[in-house]
Amino acid sequence: MAKGNPIGVFDSGIGGLTVFRSIVEALPGYDYIYLGDNGRAPYGNRSFKTIHQYTWECVQWMFKQGCPLVILACNTASAKALRTIQQQDLPNGYADKRVLGVIRPTAEVIADYTKTKEIGVLGTKGTVQSGSYLLEIEHFAPELKVHQQAAPLWVPLIENGEYDKPGADYYVKMYLDQLMAQSPNIDTVLLACTHYPLLADKIKAHLPGNVNVVAQGDIVAASLVDYLQRHPEMEQNLSKTGKRQFYTTIDDTADFDHHASQFFNDEVK
Ligand code: SIN
Repeated sequence: MAKGNPIGVFDSGIGGLTVFRSIVEALPGYDYIYLGDNGRAPYGNRSFKTIHQYTWECVQWMFKQGCPLVILACNTASAKALRTIQQQDLPNGYADKRVLGVIRPTAEVIADYTKTKEIGVLGTKGTVQSGSYLLEIEHFAPELKVHQQAAPLWVPLIENGEYDKPGADYYVKMYLDQLMAQSPNIDTVLLACTHYPLLADKIKAHLPGNVNVVAQGDIVAASLVDYLQRHPEMEQNLSKTGKRQFYTTIDDTADFDHHASQFFNDEVK
């Protein structure tokens, strides 16, 4: 039986589910495969070489499952692996495949959220050190002043299921204080890690009420809708039976299944 041509959505773990949910809401009729590399998460503190190797292995696996298009719903992978995949790996035997990330679509629209023109970007150490947001925002919105803050303990909190526990508040406040101390004019905080929306309630509770907290799910989904409109050759090649499959690289899948079920109304078994 033909496997179909699903859209692949990849993340180092469960964070990409926050983007996947928005994508499915915007484009419900398509087939999807979600892969979380939970067995090797977090990616945030790993080297460029390792992040590229892990991401490319996962992307190739999704190609083997029939995906002609893979979304890296992971900022660390988008910052550290996407360019090499697009420029070196795909031309080397995968020219008919496409891999897209989350940083560029976000940089294209982030100026719409701020009045003061000063924004804070929260990400993993890898995303912040890559400077990818500084470069992309400079390209699309040079009028913005961007303050970055790494929050390396947030992904481990989330991957270990501690994100809604009272102990998480200490670490949420710690990094937000460091970010907001960089300027009193920050009126928009971008969650530049797809895991962080799971901490959104705590993040909002610790920030002044006038600060916008921006998650990427709807931004990436809108960008994918636009991409498919502009690329009918890809759109026509995608299978559309509404099937969604979830995979993880971790041995014990119970936690992953639980989170995926929460996001998709108990449809994940
Ligand atoms: C991580 O695995 O450390 C985070 C992934 C991301 O940046 O979205």
